[in-house]
Amino acid sequence: MAQGGLYSIVPVQEKDADDVMKLLKRTFFLDEPLNKAVGLCSSETDPCPELEEYCSHSLMEGLSFKAIDHEENIVGVMISGVCPLKEDENGNDLLSQALKCQNPKFQKILHILARRETGARLWERFPHEETLVEVKVAATDHRWRRKGIMNALLKATEKATLQRRIRLIRMDTSSAYSAMSAERHGYTCVYSALYRDIKLDGQPLIVPEPPHNEDRVYVKMLFEQESISVG
Ligand SMILES: CC(C)(COP(=O)(O)OP(=O)(O)OC[C@H]1O[C@@H](n2cnc3c(N)ncnc32)[C@H](O)[C@@H]1OP(=O)(O)O)[C@@H](O)C(=O)NCCC(=O)NCCS
Repeated sequence: MAQGGLYSIVPVQEKDADDVMKLLKRTFFLDEPLNKAVGLCSSETDPCPELEEYCSHSLMEGLSFKAIDHEENIVGVMISGVCPLKEDENGNDLLSQALKCQNPKFQKILHILARRETGARLWERFPHEETLVEVKVAATDHRWRRKGIMNALLKATEKATLQRRIRLIRMDTSSAYSAMSAERHGYTCVYSALYRDIKLDGQPLIVPEPPHNEDRVYVKMLFEQESISVG
């Protein structure tokens, strides 16, 4: 899928794992608004095993896409996976993970992610769905930003989700720009909180720089039951 001859969007393959991680370490690890505000990594060589595990987890489920330039360098990535609507109650839910986390910076992020679950309550909104596809990570190389790569990656993810016959897609946004992408694609916001109001023990957990003021969960129902069209 050529995009004006600048880049192409193709599925992530096993051979891409190292290059995807390199891209994430020089982008997402440093400048995703929550990671940046909490100072999760100070440089692209600074390790964060918790975030590496989070990013690697769904990479090979066949729902992740990369943007490549004409030399096949990876210049953008979107990582997605199939998830239940309700977290497991086996002690591995996000709040339990937050309480057990040994990395105090990552722990704050996990608390914010846990609030999304109780704020969005997707299992109550969509009682007939068992699974959804969740967009977990989106990152574009600095030199390639604002060229529509995230929008194109989201479109490819939606198409792959349709092909799996999964109706619901979810994208949580800490970045005002990924929220814009969700809005452009017709997603509905089902949870929104100002970072300054997301508190633990009376103190805001993390307050990123403007314009990244709100934490949001977006969803989109891709098709009504019994009317699937993959175009
Ligand atoms: C968020 C991110 C992935 C967007 O990638 P991108 O390829 O530049 O996004 P796109 O060019 O497809 O733009 C998506 C939307 O955001 C808008 N946007 C992107 N960057 C913007 C900026 N700096 N200022 C204003 N709007 C911006 C675009 O105009 C577009 O909205 P539109 O479709 O209504 O015009 C990229 O900024 C990034 O890697 N950030 C660091 C990691 C991160 O925050 N990931 C997302 C976490 S939820």
